[in-house]
Amino acid sequence: MDKFVIEGGHKLSGRVKISGAKNSALALMPATLLNNGINEFSNIPKVNDIYTMIKLLKHLGVEATFQNNRLKLDTSNVTNQDAPYEHVKKMRASVYVLGPLLAKYGYSKVSMPGGCAWGPRPINLHLEAMEKLGATIILDGGNIIAKAKRLHGANINFEVSSVGATGNTIMAAVLAKGESKIQNAAMEPEITNLCEFLIDMGARIDGVGTSTILIDGVDDLSSTNGEIIGDRIEAGTLLIAGALTKSKIEIEYLNIEHIDIVLSKLKDSGAKISINNNVIEVDSSNIEPKAVDVTTAIYPGFPTDMQAQWIAYMALANGTATVTDTIYTDRFSHVPELIRLGASIERVNNMAIVRGVKRLEGAKVMSTDLRASASLVLGGLAAEGTTEVLRIYHLDRGYEKIEDKLTQLGAKIERVSTNEF
Ligand code: EPU
Repeated sequence: MDKFVIEGGHKLSGRVKISGAKNSALALMPATLLNNGINEFSNIPKVNDIYTMIKLLKHLGVEATFQNNRLKLDTSNVTNQDAPYEHVKKMRASVYVLGPLLAKYGYSKVSMPGGCAWGPRPINLHLEAMEKLGATIILDGGNIIAKAKRLHGANINFEVSSVGATGNTIMAAVLAKGESKIQNAAMEPEITNLCEFLIDMGARIDGVGTSTILIDGVDDLSSTNGEIIGDRIEAGTLLIAGALTKSKIEIEYLNIEHIDIVLSKLKDSGAKISINNNVIEVDSSNIEPKAVDVTTAIYPGFPTDMQAQWIAYMALANGTATVTDTIYTDRFSHVPELIRLGASIERVNNMAIVRGVKRLEGAKVMSTDLRASASLVLGGLAAEGTTEVLRIYHLDRGYEKIEDKLTQLGAKIERVSTNEF
């Protein structure tokens, strides 16, 4: 198992390029199950969740070749419609194979994802939508078995806006007979990326990027190529690294409009932001960050996937900030660990009250999820002395070579193999 050893307190400088969005790739890759042919993607990040999805697709019979961020998926010979527990327990996004397999092959069997480190994270909305599209669903031995001769169009109005349920439902409805209307659909850029990929395959989708998606089902879809959008969460995380260490850095990032809210909160905190084509500069040289409250919300609101990093930033702000998570109300495992670095944070239900302190001090910390780990790395970069972040396999699930990018920016961070857990 690896850990990061970070010598904190160094200023950062220079420019890094943002990788492709893993949450986009995780939706587009299973979408290829809807066709029979060769699909090629560019800008796929080399992170462990992508390798897990590749393993699952191979298990279904897909041939995969992954080189230099380019992924080729050949879906000509899908032989199996069963996503077993060994895959799903590693990564909840495995549930994304449910909709496309059901729509294309009339059957899919997907192990129920269990709880996760920060709450139950149900999939009821995915299943209810499949039933509305005409599937019969049974739960058997911890598996969801979904069957339908051919799905039919339906009106689906989600009671909660869900990225995964929207993606799964769109992938099912594009091959259903007739028209479907999805209301309260997720508007996240990863869903837009998915819709555009499906349209390239031949799907008929209207309302892309809005909360009402209209789909006119087709009989067949053909293979195509797709490009993964930039990772808005990696972009936001690195911009906070610059602001938190009172540095001036630049990121090269293609989809600047996707992080408007993060840029606007950074500006509110006193960071100077300038944008030049595809480059964003954050300049916080010797700027004491002001405390700025955030409340997470569905897109275009402040992303829950940036909540932990914002708490790390506010730990050194001037004043008291509240950070409230309305999407995942229990996603705060980073709080006690940031307190180990000297932060002053009180948690009240789904809100963290962060009282800015003058300095953080290096310590050994560990985390139980991806974004929490990112916040601990940020804390370590700003803390005086040495911070060890244990269990960084969580980070490896979703950040492509984060230590290389931070090193490129002048951080002192090293990956070390360890027996410590
Ligand atoms: N929800 C339900 N029932 C469902 C599905 C969701 O009640 O059937 C609720 C959830 O409990 C939550 C809300 O709906 O309160 C939103 O969850 P959503 O379904 O949108 O989350 P997800 O699709 O499982 C994706 C990202 C997450 C990100 C969330 C929210 C992927 C692979 N994962 O998860 O990313 O936090 O959307 O934006 O796209 C991460 O990258 O660290 C990560 C966890």
